[in-house]
Amino acid sequence: MIEVNHLTKQFGKFTAVNDISFSVNKGELFALLGPNGAGKSTTIKMLTTLLKPTSGELFLNGYNVVKQQDSARKSFGIVFQDPSLDNDLTAYENMELHAVMYGVEPASMKNRIKELLELVELWDRRANLVKTFSGGMKRRLEIARGLLHHPKVLFLDEPTLGLDTQTRNLLWNYIGHLAHEKEMTILFTTHYLEEAEANASRIAIIDHGKLLTIGSAAKLKQDTHTKTLEQAYLKLTGKELRDEEVDPHEAWRARQRSRNMR
Ligand SMILES: Nc1ncnc2c1ncn2[C@@H]1O[C@H](COP(=O)(O)OP(=O)(O)OP(=O)(O)O)[C@@H](O)[C@H]1O
Ligand SMILES: [Mg+2]
Repeated sequence: MIEVNHLTKQFGKFTAVNDISFSVNKGELFALLGPNGAGKSTTIKMLTTLLKPTSGELFLNGYNVVKQQDSARKSFGIVFQDPSLDNDLTAYENMELHAVMYGVEPASMKNRIKELLELVELWDRRANLVKTFSGGMKRRLEIARGLLHHPKVLFLDEPTLGLDTQTRNLLWNYIGHLAHEKEMTILFTTHYLEEAEANASRIAIIDHGKLLTIGSAAKLKQDTHTKTLEQAYLKLTGKELRDEEVDPHEAWRARQRSRNMR
């Protein structure tokens, strides 16, 4: 459903995405992980026609994303990393505007908006201006909006950033339902590794624009001889804390030495 072949993006002399290839199957929940600046959002922007690749090929739902932009656009929904709501409209108006833009059937539009606003528990606040919402409420509204037109492919760039545990659980239950029951293909990024482990069937890790590895959480742990996904991630991205590698006896002796010196 998503195919990325030798994708590269350069900004001037800087290479943000460097020869990345992977594919995602229909109904798969796929995570793209990597440190800040790794190239995750840039990859999603190219997949959603917002940026043009420097080289490489992209296919969505069988359409060439560069050459068949309009058809590709009809195939996906997106929740951006950066807020993109209209603050001077109410929650309901933001939903309505998006529904019209994405051609949601007028007959089912009202029910659909109600269903989604209820899901993110904003139905009671539907008539309030978005500028009066908290950060978490805005995030919930953005996610509801991204789901409006039942897209075949859904891109979620850090969908749960700044949300409380209750809301995160609620959203992941719903996202899992979309993938498993509705066969929606979902590619998401997150810095919460436990979300990737709990929800993604496969995980790709990128750093400095390069794809380091791809596979299930179990495979990543096995390949790196680690016990948790976080350890695997830190080992691969080379930023692990060194404390764990210190021999406890050596640490104790070092403490004794410094005590004796006093
Ligand atoms: N329009 C642009 N012009 C120049 N450089 C850019 C542009 N957009 C992104 N970059 C650079 O490309 C690199 C990748 O950025 P990107 O936003 O894809 O990272 P990310 O993996 O999404 O990080 P984060 O976890 O912080 O969201 C960064 O070094 C960023 O500064
Ligand atoms: Mg990003």
